[in-house]
This record gives sequence, structure tokens and C-alpha cells, in this order.
Amino acid sequence: MDFKLTEEHIMIRDAARDFAKNELLPGVIERDEKQEFPSEQIKKMGELGFLGMMASPEFGGGGMDTISYILAMEEISKIDASASVVMSVNNSLVCWGLDTYGNQEQKEKYLTKLTTGEKLGAFCLSEPEAGSDATSQRTTAIDKGDHYLLNGTKNWITNGNSADYYIVIAQTDREKKHKGINAFIVEKGVEGFEIGPKEQKMGIRGSDTHSLNFNDVKVPKENRIGEDGFGFKFAMKTLSGGRIGIAAQALGIASGAYELALDYSKQRKAFGTEICNHQAIAFKLADMYTSIEASRHLVMKAAWEKDQGANYDLTGAMAKVYASKTAMDVTTEAVQVHGGNGYVKEYHVERLMRDAKITQIYEGTSEIQKIVISRGILKD
Ligand code: CAA
Ligand code: FAD
Repeated sequence: MDFKLTEEHIMIRDAARDFAKNELLPGVIERDEKQEFPSEQIKKMGELGFLGMMASPEFGGGGMDTISYILAMEEISKIDASASVVMSVNNSLVCWGLDTYGNQEQKEKYLTKLTTGEKLGAFCLSEPEAGSDATSQRTTAIDKGDHYLLNGTKNWITNGNSADYYIVIAQTDREKKHKGINAFIVEKGVEGFEIGPKEQKMGIRGSDTHSLNFNDVKVPKENRIGEDGFGFKFAMKTLSGGRIGIAAQALGIASGAYELALDYSKQRKAFGTEICNHQAIAFKLADMYTSIEASRHLVMKAAWEKDQGANYDLTGAMAKVYASKTAMDVTTEAVQVHGGNGYVKEYHVERLMRDAKITQIYEGTSEIQKIVISRGILKD
């Protein structure tokens, strides 16, 4: 067993760390306040290769392993979880899904632009009546010969307005239930495709979340991903890897808050000494560090399993449920360590606490992860 990172891993981690400090930290509080999408920063992330890290070099991707992606996700998330969710959706849901299951023409036409950040992607599974219960898709795609006719509403879509290409999951044959679901590539701007208003959110406020409406949208047949009826499996397989990315996001939010709390505790004095010398504070730091390390081991194990070609569904779900709980616990304690300063914006920890919550909800709630884990262990 080797816990050491390679030189390449360290280089990627340090590049992401520098980028986050130099490019994302300035203005992160203002973007959160104004719900402003980090357009310039995302463009630069594309140029630096952070938006298509694991995709095949043949299609403009970085050809990197999942460990590299996880290390970069953690560093970006320490500073700006809004930027990291954009990165996560583009890398692990859109690029990975297309790279793994798209055909040559789809990869040439769409993937090459998504890996470089020239275009941005969105992944559209959730609906008003189908969130956790994802097989209950109400959006329909009726086969009309050379095209499908798409009708319905998608909810809570990350990159909802900033994306150019949308992977949309829809029901083509209700009688076949989940085996009658397909995944399609839909381009922004096609007739009948409307973007709803921006959601006003508690956290990750720099990311743009919208509902999407499809009214008789014509989708060319060649834009279906995989064989007829593959759409639900496509979504599940893609989400299995996506969940490792969100676990890394949670890990980053937790470690960012921990680092701020550690520094603060060494500077702030109360009762004649730095507050880290009070055991109540030192024990909080010990608990934070321990749960962060445990999360990191789970996240890395899941990423390693993926890189080895092993099944990572179970470890990915465990990593997500554990790291997201850690993010909530650690950010809450980081606010406590900061006292009154923790409650105001300039110390960053209140934002990290608000950002942490979403990691327990999206890409499958914690309850859904426990369904995946319990089914996995009971089956075995
Ligand atoms: N890989 C491959 N196939 C899978 C799979 C996986 N990981 N998980 C399930 N399947 C297959 C099953 O094998 C089954 O197919 P067969 O009948 O051919 O065997 C089919 O999918 C249906 O599976 P289930 O019977 O287990 O379905 P279910 O109704 O019990 O639901 C669920 C399973 C795990 C709860 C699933 O509905 C789920 O994951 N729900 C959560 C949805 C979710 O994560 N949404 C995230 C949206 S994207 C997002 O959130 C992005 C963002 O925020 C940034
Ligand atoms: P529900 O499914 O209604 O769940 C409500 C509660 O019931 C939860 O606590 C849930 O865990 C619990 N519950 C439901 N079923 C069970 C069960 N069987 N057993 C135990 N408990 C259960 N979706 C996309 O497709 N693409 C995106 O890009 C995207 N981005 C998002 C960004 C944000 C900011 C948000 C808030 C959501 C995003 N989502 C996205 C949607 C997200 O994946 C869903 O919100 C999530 O899957 C939960 O679905 P729901 O909101 O319908 O909750």
C-alpha cells in the first residue's frame, strides 16, 4: 500500500492551489453577495485544463487520473465552492459521460469544445416531481423518425444559464419504465428551449441554478447518447463518478474552514493566551482534523478504485455521505472557533458553512447515498 502522491499529482495540486489563491480568492465574497457567476475565472480554468481533466487527450482532455482531479477539486473548493461545482459538473458529469459513452461524432462535435472550456456543459436529470426518485422522469422525448420531440421541465440545473450544451435525460417509452429512458445532447438556443429565472440560494451563490423548459424541442436522433433505453444507466454510471467529485468538494470546504480556524486560534487571545491553548478549542481542532483525514482516505480510495477499473459505487457513496457530513460539522465548528468574527463575511467561514450544506443534497442526498450503501452491503 502506497499513500504517496506522485510528482505529477503534487504539481497539479499546487497549480490548483495557486490558481485558487491568486484568481478565485479576490472577489469571492462579492460574487457570493451578488450571486455573480465567476465567468472570467471559469474561462481561465478552461485555458489551464481544469475543465476536462480526465477526458481523452484526443478530444482536448487532460487524460489525467481521478486522483489528480480530486486533488484539484479539493484546492478549488477550499476557496470557492461555486467555481468548483461548475468544474465538477463539466468534468465528471458532462465530459466523463460523453467521453465514456458518446460516439466519435458526438465527441468531435461537442466534447472537444467542452474539455477546453470553449463551451460549458450542464447535466439535467432532476425535475419538479423527480429528484431522488429519478426513475419517475416526466420529461418526454417522443421518437419522430429522424428526431425526438422533447417536452417537460428540468429543475435546479447547475450552469443552467451559462452552459452551451445540455445533457438531458427524458422518458421515451413510459411502459418500459427506467429501460425506456434516454439521454440527449441539447444545444442552447434551439427553438422551444427556455431558461427559467435564477434560483436565489443559501450557498454556492456564484453558481447559476435554473429550471429549464422544453416545449416541442426537436432533438436530432444523432444526439441520443448510447443505445435506445440506455439513458437511466448512463445517468447512474455518470453520477457514481460525479459523487466522488462532490465528496472532494466537501473535503475542500472542510479543509478550507479548518485551515482558517487553525490560523485564527493561534492568533486570537482570550484569558491571557492564544485560544488554541484552551483545551476546548484544541479538541475541536483535533476532531476537525481527524474527520477531514478520514474523509480524505475515503475520497482517495474511491478515486483510486475508479482509476483501477474496479467498482467504485459503494466507496463513492460512502465518501460523499461522510465528507459532506464532515463539511457541515467542520464549518460549523470553524465559525464557533472564530467567535463573533465567524458570523461576518470577511472571515470566510460563514460562507463555507452555507456552501457545505449543498454537498448533503445534490448528486444524491445523504439518504440516497445510504440506500446505495445499504443495498451494496446487503447484496454482498
Ligand atoms: N450503475 C449502473 N446502473 C445502475 C446504478 C449504477 N450506479 N444504480 C442503479 N442502476 C440501475 C439498476 O441496476 C437498475 O437497472 P436494471 O433493472 O437493469 O438492473 C436501474 O438502474 C434502476 O435501479 P433501481 O431499481 O435501484 O432504481 P431506484 O428507483 O430504486 O433508484 C436510486 C435508485 C439510487 C435511488 C436512484 O434513483 C438515484 O440515484 N437517485 C438520486 C438521483 C441523483 O443523484 N440526482 C442527482 C442529479 S445531478 C446533480 O445533482 C448535479 C449537481 O447537483 C451538481
Ligand atoms: P426529494 O427527492 O423530494 O427529497 C426530499 C427529502 O426526502 C430528502 O431529504 C431526501 O433525502 C428524502 N428522501 C427522498 N426519497 C427517500 C427515500 N427513498 N428514503 C429516504 N429518504 C428519502 N439536479 C440535476 O439534475 N442537475 C444539476 O445540475 C443539479 N444541480 C443542483 C444544484 C443545486 C444548488 C440544488 C439545490 C440541486 C441541484 N440538483 C441538480 C438537484 C438535486 O440533485 C436534487 O435536489 C436532489 O437529488 C434531491 O431531490 P429533491 O430536491 O427533489 O428532493
